[in-house]
Amino acid sequence: MNRRRGLEVRWLNWSDAGEAILDLRRRVFVDEMNWPEKRIHRDRDADGLHLCAMSDGEIVAAISAYVYEPGAPELAALELSDTDGPTVGIGMRVELPEYRGHLISIEMGTSMACQISESLRPSRFFLYVHVDTLLHLVDRYARRNFTYHTQVGSGEDAVVVMKVEGKEELEEFYLNHRDLARKYSADDDGIRVPSLVRFLAESKRENLLAVDRLGSENHYLEQLRLGTEAPRLTAQGQVILAEQRPRLALTPFPPAPASLLDIGTGPGEYLATIAKEKSFAGYQVRGVEPAPGLLARARAAFPEYDFREGSAYTTGEPESSRDVVTANFLFVHLRSPDLALLEIRRILRPAGLLYVVDINDASFTGPEAIQRMMQIYDRNYVGDRLLLNDLPRRAREFGFEPVRHFSTTLHNTGGAEPVFGKDEIRLGKADAWSLLSFVRAQRGCEEIFREAQDSYFATECRLSLNLETQVYRLSA
Ligand SMILES: C[S@@+](CC[C@H](N)C(=O)[O-])C[C@H]1O[C@@H](n2cnc3c(N)ncnc32)[C@H](O)[C@@H]1O
Repeated sequence: MNRRRGLEVRWLNWSDAGEAILDLRRRVFVDEMNWPEKRIHRDRDADGLHLCAMSDGEIVAAISAYVYEPGAPELAALELSDTDGPTVGIGMRVELPEYRGHLISIEMGTSMACQISESLRPSRFFLYVHVDTLLHLVDRYARRNFTYHTQVGSGEDAVVVMKVEGKEELEEFYLNHRDLARKYSADDDGIRVPSLVRFLAESKRENLLAVDRLGSENHYLEQLRLGTEAPRLTAQGQVILAEQRPRLALTPFPPAPASLLDIGTGPGEYLATIAKEKSFAGYQVRGVEPAPGLLARARAAFPEYDFREGSAYTTGEPESSRDVVTANFLFVHLRSPDLALLEIRRILRPAGLLYVVDINDASFTGPEAIQRMMQIYDRNYVGDRLLLNDLPRRAREFGFEPVRHFSTTLHNTGGAEPVFGKDEIRLGKADAWSLLSFVRAQRGCEEIFREAQDSYFATECRLSLNLETQVYRLSA
């Protein structure tokens, strides 16, 4: 019997589920494993993050995590020194015997690690295992990027403390867990874990969300130089506009007077160009951009438009103030799309539209060597070029209903000038390759990029990649 079918996974507050979680821990650890009762209690359970799998209203599996601010005495007791941000302790993972062997809590734990990394951006993860009964788990956690830190306590209280700490180590921890989560969710009966960001917002614990730390990251510009990127965006913008014109005309934007905010507006061309389209006649428009260099370019090139500093997580806009939000090639560069959806939900008026244009690497086709190159890139890029397949599900969680979905396939079979067909654009061989030029900029991808490029230009081959437009309406 497939125990995964019909399970509902939810984040729950201790005040609602604490008794049931304790009961589950008791059945497994005290009754089955003879642990003393005191061990199933954690000091921070009351404000922990608890992810539970339910079957017919009963909790059958659970995993908990705890957030500690620097200086918390619990950390000192485990010989964990101060860091500059929060530490997250991964706590007990437990499931009823009949649900074991189905990887339920392992999948939940993977998604939990991934979502906590995205939205809380902790400076450290740790866990501990009891030496007397669970020492065999040390190897398993080592495969999940935890390293041995220390052993504390003695006798039956002895525990091995393991941690993930350091910029590169935390990034690899995140990428590893995201990769595993993607593989799990590709299964038909994969476990669907709802959004932690939404749960924290609904339970009035937004203070845990790393809005400032996330807002100071720019994964797009981390790899690319402004000097070469701004002209490339401008050139690309002309092709995109030709593709977008009919898409804009088919989208039911509200009539003027209305207002539009373009997030991640970059050098400003996109906003300046779409603002002249019929759909937005009479609109008040504004662009927000976090990178000072791009913001300065936008202001200098288009002084007639209003550009402000802001990120997708903190736009600086008042609540319910915008009728339309556009995000052109933004979402795939975000670490936390959920936090952006939360902010967009806040600033849109009821029934306002979110208009997203982005590339979808899940649609990529090409020779094996180039596919492999893309897979390595997508595994290691902190943004998510596979996001668009999952965006409708995520957006729905934040109250957005899809209203339009357009897909344009970009091919490499054109000539010197792009050829526009129905739902397709044929680009010349070199122009199509330049769409993938960003790969070279990722550390560790230089060689595989060069090899793929050599074989691409030495042989006849076909590439294709979809550009998607997804339009959502915020529920009224
Ligand atoms: C591929 S560029 C697209 C620029 C512009 N939308 C266009 O289509 O020309 C991605 C943009 O997103 C911006 N960006 C990166 N991280 C961001 C964040 N967290 N919030 C808002 N914008 C962000 C970058 O600085 C850059 O301007």
